[in-house]
Amino acid sequence: MDYKDFGLVNTKQMFADAITNHYAVPAFNFYNMETLDAIISAARDTHSPVILAVSESALKYMGDNLLMGMIWGLNLRPENGVALHLDHGTSYESCVHAIKLGFSSVMIDGSKLPFDANTELTRTVIDFAHQYDVSVESELGTLAGFEDETTHGDASNYTNPDDVVNFVNATNTDSLAIAIGTSHGAYKRKSDNEELRFDILEKIATQLPDFPLVLHGASTVPQSYVNTINTSGGKISGARGIPPEQIRHAVQMNICKVNIDSDLRMGFTAGVRETLAKNPEIFNPRDYLGAGQKNIYDTCVDEITNIMKSNNQIKK
Ligand code: G3H
Ligand code: 13P
Ligand code: ZN
Repeated sequence: MDYKDFGLVNTKQMFADAITNHYAVPAFNFYNMETLDAIISAARDTHSPVILAVSESALKYMGDNLLMGMIWGLNLRPENGVALHLDHGTSYESCVHAIKLGFSSVMIDGSKLPFDANTELTRTVIDFAHQYDVSVESELGTLAGFEDETTHGDASNYTNPDDVVNFVNATNTDSLAIAIGTSHGAYKRKSDNEELRFDILEKIATQLPDFPLVLHGASTVPQSYVNTINTSGGKISGARGIPPEQIRHAVQMNICKVNIDSDLRMGFTAGVRETLAKNPEIFNPRDYLGAGQKNIYDTCVDEITNIMKSNNQIKK
């Protein structure tokens, strides 16, 4: 189906508006009814545009029909400013599949490939996607970081600012994810003193003025959730994210899409664990899933308002 039949929009106008008005559009990952409902309610209540992000594994988990049935059930209109986005698409086939389902935006993540192969794969996806007016995000540089509290992840491979203009011109990509020191997951760093590489971001933004840049791995990992999880039977000590002021600073430097998954996962887990720990007699899932859902709603409202500054941007 065509994404327009679901009342979705692609990201082109969203990003143009975000750049002009110095905010970022939040991309929140979801994988079931509770997470979707919490995200869309937070966006509606704050009058924020939102990108509903679905990873390949989340798509497999929900199934094509259940996912698109839920999107249909949101009863969206274009003026709501909602995009449905494939997060970290790994192949041409995966992106084509999402576009045929009704996604309005896809990411082709060729960041682990050599430059020329990444360029070629990205260009092929874009040639297909643009026939359907679907926007495409691509990536240069790879994210690195701490996989857990004891091991160190892949070595960092920051985006080379000298590559970006060639890549954007050769691919015609609509937006570009860059690596400036963030990483996926809940164990991003050992201390809050580590700074993102704003020098790299500045060089990229100078070479690509007014071009939409994307920040993955941007969860702040609220310590209140870490503490609740750890005191309610969980074990995630050492989890640490990017300080909110660093994300805010990046947003002022042409980052116009900020990806958040781990914060929502932790909020959900904290709500469920705390409710079960305090009420050992309950066994109705609706009693504890609701607590997780509320934490996701609160986290989205907080980050929309205080980090992305995308609240009240749905107004025209
Ligand atoms: O960037 C990756 C997201 O956090 C999705 O992860 O494949 O476990 O859903 P996932
Ligand atoms: P976090 O793990 O920091 O939430 O990053 C999510 C992300 O980049 C999804 O693409
Ligand atoms: Zn990501």
